[in-house]
Amino acid sequence: MSYLIQVYGETEGNKEAEERFEHVGNGDYSLSFLSLNSAQRHANKHVRSVLFANRGLSMEFAVEAKNVVKDFGEIRALDGPSFNVRQGEIYGLIGPNGAGKTTALRVTSTLLLPTSGTVKVFGRDVVDEALEVRRLISYLPEEAGAYKNLSGHEYLEFMTKFTTRNKENLKETVAIAAKISGLEERLRDKVKTYSKGMKRRLLVARALMTKPKLAVLDEPTSGLDVLHSVHVRRIIKQYVEKQGVTVFLSSHNMLEVEHLCDRVALINKGKIVAEDSPAALKKKANVSNLEEVFAKVVGLV
Ligand SMILES: Nc1ncnc2c1ncn2[C@@H]1O[C@H](COP(=O)(O)OP(=O)(O)OP(=O)(O)O)[C@@H](O)[C@H]1O
Ligand SMILES: [Mg+2]
Repeated sequence: MSYLIQVYGETEGNKEAEERFEHVGNGDYSLSFLSLNSAQRHANKHVRSVLFANRGLSMEFAVEAKNVVKDFGEIRALDGPSFNVRQGEIYGLIGPNGAGKTTALRVTSTLLLPTSGTVKVFGRDVVDEALEVRRLISYLPEEAGAYKNLSGHEYLEFMTKFTTRNKENLKETVAIAAKISGLEERLRDKVKTYSKGMKRRLLVARALMTKPKLAVLDEPTSGLDVLHSVHVRRIIKQYVEKQGVTVFLSSHNMLEVEHLCDRVALINKGKIVAEDSPAALKKKANVSNLEEVFAKVVGLV
């Protein structure tokens, strides 16, 4: 078995991140892991580290999309974009309404067949190996609902039962989800009494609670006020850091995702028009936020 250690260093106060990848053989990987951490700490850096054991999965990319085309009749929703989501990162597909974000996430999640091109999730083809892909991912739809006559707690329990029959696991998973949701005693109330923001928090918790290898989140913070958005963004970030989950998300809110995503792809009319870390994109375009980058690359300014 081999291991991949992925270290992201963020200089204090500077969002520009540096990345390092190292493959470690059969030796004592935990020691190497710790030494990498301390080396980074000595350099006065905030370190986020993710350790992956190779369980026969492709080590390189969580998502590998090549020339993906999706037509709905006359409408070309995806016009051949290629992109890679690295393991352990938060990768955002960012663009205006109708750009093709949901379509790309649904193809990746095996819910739609591509017209042509390929998408692989941890090396597994979303068409030929759809069942295997489904075991590795969780998917939060853009407009998802929870059963309104169940309490939040009952809903989490119900959803967990699809993944485990073991009582201890069930309890543990529901406890994790409860914590992620941050809904506390309101989990005892019926979902129909929840606000939009509370429902979204419950659903994000459902998508993350099973520690999927890849969480595909379609507009995780859509329709949320600042407080709820901040909570959801924080839990996504913490989750990635602690659990080694990879997140592939979409948003049309370019300002919001700037601080959430390690890398973003700007998508317009089914095509990726720019891709990099938010800091690098801003620097390249010599502007102060991602909205301005987008305006510049699509020629609005
Ligand atoms: N099931 C469908 N049938 C027909 N056309 C569709 C279907 N789904 C998406 N489209 C079209 O594909 C294009 C891309 O849609 P998609 O939902 O992927 O955009 P999006 O980037 O997620 O937009 P939004 O920000 O509004 O969620 C749009 O022109 C849309 O009308
Ligand atoms: Mg969408």
